[in-house]
Amino acid sequence: EPADIPVICIDGPTASGKGTLAAAVAARLGYHVLDSGALYRVVGLAAERAGLATDEAALADPAHAERVGALAAQLPVRFADGRIWLGDDDVTDAVRSEAAGMAASRVSALPAVRAGLLALQRGFRRLPGLVADGRDMGTVIFPDAPLKVFLTASAATRAQRRYEQLISRGETASIDSLLADLEARDARDRTRAVAPLEPAQDAQLLDNSAQTIDASVATVLAWWQRCRPFG
Ligand code: DC
Repeated sequence: EPADIPVICIDGPTASGKGTLAAAVAARLGYHVLDSGALYRVVGLAAERAGLATDEAALADPAHAERVGALAAQLPVRFADGRIWLGDDDVTDAVRSEAAGMAASRVSALPAVRAGLLALQRGFRRLPGLVADGRDMGTVIFPDAPLKVFLTASAATRAQRRYEQLISRGETASIDSLLADLEARDARDRTRAVAPLEPAQDAQLLDNSAQTIDASVATVLAWWQRCRPFG
């Protein structure tokens, strides 16, 4: 019974450090991870590779949106050994680009895409437990999760972190354009009609602007200690 399998949800805006926090908490508990943002990124990439445009004008056509939704419902995606596969292609690096993030944000506003990814996401809930990160893990995908964390950090902090990440990978970046991009993405994620980015009513708020990753991990583990349903 999936409801008996523990799940911790970590939701929040782009570049808030959800992925890092989720991976660290999962490692400490020996749980599985679901990086739901990666699924939307893969849908964006799969659409483009299938010749389906992902600009807003194209996605506004209901027939086109249905085709992208159908693709999401049959997405041949696999996570293995830290790599992400779309069919036989290793798309790990391709999905991490800023362009892939923006495309993900656009396709994720389509109800057909969100519905298409629902069962796939719930399938990640396996023993001994799951740490799921995204925008709507606590509000839509796992509403019965005993622990929901809403992670935030100031936009300036997030732009700075994204900048350092890109530079360390040898890419070029500008703080100003990263800040503008992430504010645009936040605005779209927060104001869309379906599953907008917002804290679940029973979420614990965690602002990590001035906190190390270790401190955030310790906070989440302490919350889990208090509210975990079993042992
Ligand atoms: O977390 P991320 O940056 O990889 O997510 C990319 C985009 O996917 C994000 O801008 C919005 C969308 N997304 C979503 O709508 N719901 C989720 N659960 C995760 C991501």
